[in-house]
Amino acid sequence: MSNENVKIKFYGGEDIPLELHKVRVVQKLNLVPIERRLEALHEGGFNTFRLTTKDVFLDMLTDSGTNAMSDMQMSAMMHADDAYAGSQSFYRLQKAVEDVLKKKYLLPVHQGRAAENILSNAYVRKGNLIPMNYHFTTALAHITQYGGHIAELLYDEAYKIDSTHPFKGNMNVEKLDALIRETGTENIPFIRLEASTNLIGGQPFSIQNMREVRKVADKYGLRIVLDASLLGENAYLILQREPEFAGSSMGEVIAIMSDLADIIYFSARKLSSSRGGGICTNDLTVYRDLEALVPLFEGFLTYGGISVREIEAMAVGLYETLDETMICQSPRFIAYLVNSLTRKGVPMVTPPGVLGAHVDAMQICAHIPQTQYPAGSLAAAFYLASGVRGMERGSVSNQRDEQGNETYADMELLRLAVPRRVFTLSQIKYVEDRLVWLYENRDLIGGLRFVYEPRVLRFFMGGLEPTSDWPAKLIAKFKADFGDSL
Ligand SMILES: Cc1ncc(COP(=O)(O)O)c(C=O)c1O
Repeated sequence: MSNENVKIKFYGGEDIPLELHKVRVVQKLNLVPIERRLEALHEGGFNTFRLTTKDVFLDMLTDSGTNAMSDMQMSAMMHADDAYAGSQSFYRLQKAVEDVLKKKYLLPVHQGRAAENILSNAYVRKGNLIPMNYHFTTALAHITQYGGHIAELLYDEAYKIDSTHPFKGNMNVEKLDALIRETGTENIPFIRLEASTNLIGGQPFSIQNMREVRKVADKYGLRIVLDASLLGENAYLILQREPEFAGSSMGEVIAIMSDLADIIYFSARKLSSSRGGGICTNDLTVYRDLEALVPLFEGFLTYGGISVREIEAMAVGLYETLDETMICQSPRFIAYLVNSLTRKGVPMVTPPGVLGAHVDAMQICAHIPQTQYPAGSLAAAFYLASGVRGMERGSVSNQRDEQGNETYADMELLRLAVPRRVFTLSQIKYVEDRLVWLYENRDLIGGLRFVYEPRVLRFFMGGLEPTSDWPAKLIAKFKADFGDSL
C-alpha cells in the first residue's frame, strides 16, 4: 500500500490523525485522585516503572508489548501448534520472517534483549568496540557485560532537541571510517544500527545513510547488525521524508533495509505487536555461531522461550507491518501531540519521531541540576498532575562507568509512549492539556535522589525520593486550578 492511500484531508483544513481501525475490545481505565497518586509515587520510589496499573490512567510507559493486536492476530493464536520441537507455528513464523525481512535462518528468542545477550555472547570479547548510531539501554548492558565498549556515532544535529532534520538517527559515516582505522577491524565484531533510534526520541535513519554505512562495512569486511525493533516506523518515516521513496510501499522499503544488514534482531513486543523476539540472517556461519546459544538461554530452536500462541501472533504481526495503515497511526498521533505542544511553547523533541512524544526535561526543569535527575523529576511530576505514566529517558536510565561514577545523559527526556492503536484522540488531548498546565507550573517541580540503586539497569527497579516537599506544593496548585476535578 503506498502512502498516498492514507492521506485523508478534512474539509475544515484541520490536521487530524484519523484512526483507520475500529475498537472492538475495550479495557476500563481508572483515574485515581491526586492524593492517591502521591501515595503511589511514594510506594513506587518515585519511579514510574514501579507503579501498578491500578494507579495508572493512561499507560504511556512504553510501546513494548502494549500495542493493540489485530483481530487476525488474535484468531491466529487459536490455531497454534503446541510442540516442544518442530511446531508448525514456528514454520509459519519462519515463512513470515523470510517474506517480510528476507532472511531465511531464524532463531526465536523470548524478547529483544535475549537477542542482544546471544549476539554479545557469541561475538563480543573483552576490549572490543561496537560502533553504533546510538545505544539502547539493554544493548549497552549486554555488550558491557561481556567486556565490550561502544562508540556512538551520530551527527551533531541528532543532539539538537529542536531540529527539522528528517533523519537524526543517521550514523556519522566519516567518524565510522576513522574509528575503524584507528581501532582495527580485529577489535570490532560488528557495527550496530538501530532503526528509529529509541533514546534520542525515536528518530529514523535514511536508506541513503544505511547504504553509506554498508559501503564502509564492506570496505573493512565488517558485519552490520540491525536492531529492527522499530523497523516498521523507520520505514514509514522513510516513505514520508526520503524523496527517493515517496511512491514506494512499506514492503519495498523494509526489503531494502533488510538487504543492507547481515544480521537482524528484533523485539517482537514492538515490531509485530506481539511478544517474543528473533535473530535472523542469510549467513549460515552466523546461524551456526548462534544456534547452540538458543537452547542454552531461551528454549528449543522452534520456540525460543515464546509461547506458540504468541509465535502465531508474531507471524501475522510481521505481515501487518507491511500495512501502512497499521503502522501510521502511532507516528501520526505523536506528530499531532508534538505539534500541538510545540505551538503552546512546551519544549519537545522535533521533528516528531516514533514510539512516543519526547518532552525536553533539560529545558522544562532547567532549575534542577542533572545530579537531581530532571527527567525523572518531570516523569514523577507529570504522573502526579495527570495519572499518566511516562518513562524517564535521561540520567536515571544511564549506567555508572567502570569506576562507579555517574555518567550524565546527553538528553534528559520524558518519553510519553503512544502504543499502536491503543489511545483515542481525546486521551491524547488530555495529555496535552495536563502537560501544558505542568509546563506553566514548572517552577514547582523539584529534584530527586536515589535511596536504592541496583547495580545493573538501575532505572527499572531503583528507588528515589524528592529532595524537598515539592510534590505537596504541586498538589496545592493543582487543587487551586482544577478544584474537585480528577
Ligand atoms: C530499540 C530497542 N532495542 C531493543 C529493545 C529490547 O527489547 P525487549 O524489551 O523486548 O527486551 C527495545 C525495547 O524497548 C528497543 O526499543
